[in-house]
Amino acid sequence: MNSTSFIETEDLTKGYSSGQIEVVALKDVNLSVREGKFLGVTGPSGSGKSTLMNLLGGLDTPTSGRIKVQGKFISELNKEELALYRRYQVGMIFQSFNIISSYSALENVAFPLLFAGVGKKERKQRASQMLTKVGLCPRKDHRPPELSAGEQQRVAIARALINQPKILLADEPTGNLDSTTSRQIVQMLSDLNKNQGLTVIMISHEESLVRRFAHEIIHLCDGKIVEQEKIR
Ligand SMILES: Nc1ncnc2c1ncn2[C@@H]1O[C@H](COP(=O)(O)OP(=O)(O)O)[C@@H](O)[C@H]1O
Ligand SMILES: [Mg+2]
Repeated sequence: MNSTSFIETEDLTKGYSSGQIEVVALKDVNLSVREGKFLGVTGPSGSGKSTLMNLLGGLDTPTSGRIKVQGKFISELNKEELALYRRYQVGMIFQSFNIISSYSALENVAFPLLFAGVGKKERKQRASQMLTKVGLCPRKDHRPPELSAGEQQRVAIARALINQPKILLADEPTGNLDSTTSRQIVQMLSDLNKNQGLTVIMISHEESLVRRFAHEIIHLCDGKIVEQEKIR
């Protein structure tokens, strides 16, 4: 494996079996991402994009192959170590935001700090600062149903970043947003990447959007990388 890589996969393979049928969602994927890069991932529906993201985020484990992140093989971590990896090293956001609708924006963002053992006052303070960063502080006491889709995604981004991970994984983060809001959200991810050195991996089937912001793009098809492009 390459020593300059921040995130690296080696022959990463994931199969799912349902009854008699075995689906190979990802097949021998070799990927290398350097620190501070913005990588775009595109490909048709069912090409393995979410499978790759879930493996990189430690939500799932590979059938074979390895994943190395910041010098550690995360594919070899036990359950507890993987939980810590998910808590501190990667943030994830999704198409459907996955925030808690009965909590305020502030409570949603502060939530991961509870598990990190941070006291109540500091939780509020840090969550408030993070909401300011994503441009949402005036709405911190609103609950998701009172927020627009774009604002809900900002809450999700703030929550993903509250434990200061170095990596943000985004699976179709603009899938539920109109085109103007989509651009604003990806612009924000790009700013976080540029200004804070956050390494971003973003899945999107909107190629023009990916092309506008990413440094590199990989195209997946049938669980394989079929093309790799350097954009800037
Ligand atoms: N939990 C699962 N069980 C069985 N098959 C799955 C599961 N998750 C994904 N797949 C299959 O793996 C393939 C890749 O899925 P996915 O990674 O979700 O693709 P994408 O995100 O590119 O649309 C698809 O054929 C899908 O049906
Ligand atoms: Mg998907």
